[in-house]
Amino acid sequence: MTTAACAGCGTCAAECPTGAIVMHHFTDRQILDQIETLLAEKPEEKILTFACNWCSYAGADAAGVSRLQYPPHVRLLRTMCSGRVAESFIWHAFRHGAPVVLVSGCHIGDCHYINANHWTEKRIAKVRRKMEKLGIRPERLQLAWVSAAEGVRFAGIMNDMERLRQSVSAEEIAETVRILKEHGGFTDPLTPHDTAPTPSPSSDLSVAP
Ligand code: SF4
Ligand code: FES
Repeated sequence: MTTAACAGCGTCAAECPTGAIVMHHFTDRQILDQIETLLAEKPEEKILTFACNWCSYAGADAAGVSRLQYPPHVRLLRTMCSGRVAESFIWHAFRHGAPVVLVSGCHIGDCHYINANHWTEKRIAKVRRKMEKLGIRPERLQLAWVSAAEGVRFAGIMNDMERLRQSVSAEEIAETVRILKEHGGFTDPLTPHDTAPTPSPSSDLSVAP
């Protein structure tokens, strides 16, 4: 990789199968710690939202500046691009009791890293297929595109997420945690990229793309 040519989207770190690529300031460990902190108390009430720096995070800001109402337990986790949201981050959130997870970013064609959000789209579809295979409702993982000017859209999506969150029971969350613990090799907090052992066949959640 030519370091000087890197724009910093984080997609390569999210896709790297061996964890050889480390994103400064947005390391796996830093993001996993943020997930744990955001879900540390009453995770069943939280709407964990990954928001890209340039569009959806700014959209949330626009909603706030416009004083639009949306649920108070939305928790934003900022990355430079939605392409940085690795599969392991999503599993980590569900393992820590998240009822729902939203990945948000710039509209297709507007990503500040040209086409990085195409990778996001493919990755989310892949994770949802795995959720289905594991018996976890795939709709609990949502993907939404929000521009910096779309405060109204951001608030509307958050209200939809709140309705979705309310449809997830405590039993469903507990069952998800149990399922993911069974597949712990792939979803262990230290597994993703920092100290990753090779997942055993029984812990590999991968399905054919
Ligand atoms: S994929 Fe993104 S983070 Fe990785 S080298 Fe390219 S621009 Fe940099
Ligand atoms: S910069 Fe927003 S999705 Fe890539």
